[in-house]
Amino acid sequence: MEIFSQIAPLKAFLKDLKCEGKSVGLVPTMGALHDGHLTLFKASASQNDITVGSIFVNPIQFNNPNDLLKYPRTIEKDTKLLETVGCNVLFHPPMGEMYPEESTVKIDFGRLDKTMEGKYRPGHFSGVALVVSKLFNIIQPDQAYFGQKDWQQFAIIQKLVEELNFKINLHSITTLREADGLALSSRNQRLTPEQRKIANVFYRGLLEAKTGFREGLPLDHVRNKVRQTVEGYPGAKLEYFELADSKNLNLLEYVEQSRRPIMCIAGYIEEVRLIDNMFLD
Ligand code: PAF
Repeated sequence: MEIFSQIAPLKAFLKDLKCEGKSVGLVPTMGALHDGHLTLFKASASQNDITVGSIFVNPIQFNNPNDLLKYPRTIEKDTKLLETVGCNVLFHPPMGEMYPEESTVKIDFGRLDKTMEGKYRPGHFSGVALVVSKLFNIIQPDQAYFGQKDWQQFAIIQKLVEELNFKINLHSITTLREADGLALSSRNQRLTPEQRKIANVFYRGLLEAKTGFREGLPLDHVRNKVRQTVEGYPGAKLEYFELADSKNLNLLEYVEQSRRPIMCIAGYIEEVRLIDNMFLD
């Protein structure tokens, strides 16, 4: 695996490969890799000649300084893991390479980034969209791979690709879960053993909501049940539970199958913020 921290040599290296007609897949990450990330790398490696992984903890997408400070950083372990999953190139830039000057560009996605994550994490999606655009411009991949757990992020990146005419195929890869249903996430590493035991409450809330909708319960009723389930555990708090159109993320009041509805949930286990989602297919 080739490792680059600077943009210019990475671009030169990829240019030669592209001239040879090689296809390039990109897996953008912030590191602290887990098996969920590894499935993205495996998908890319099976569909492209070259897989590029990026590891960069992007400060401008954190609206909470404590979250940025505590975000797990495990670059040595990550590098070893990437060697095992068909990653050919790792891009691990320092801050000054991605943001030589303080960035002032803001990207607004209208309604798409004012709801759910966007509502509770102002500026988050602008920061994501900016760093992903930079990565797309630097690496110019044919395909890029993201996790379904961050569904709203995926919808935003789809919009970004459409609006800015990036010629990139996007893939959303199904969320991997622990045996008790907890969605794999880098933030899980911050949970204490006691917190970890209850961290699947969000998944259980989603399952309960699915049953509730199947029984024809109205959204408010379902949301109350989810809140009771989550907040039945000391230290667990529900931030939001929403039902949305999975394409444009418009919030739905009831299940409309034609909109391929998705249930999205976010909350805290003490100070660790977790998100999850589930389609209502
Ligand atoms: O999903 C993530 O890990 C990040 O939001 C991403 C896409 C790598 C941008 O920093």
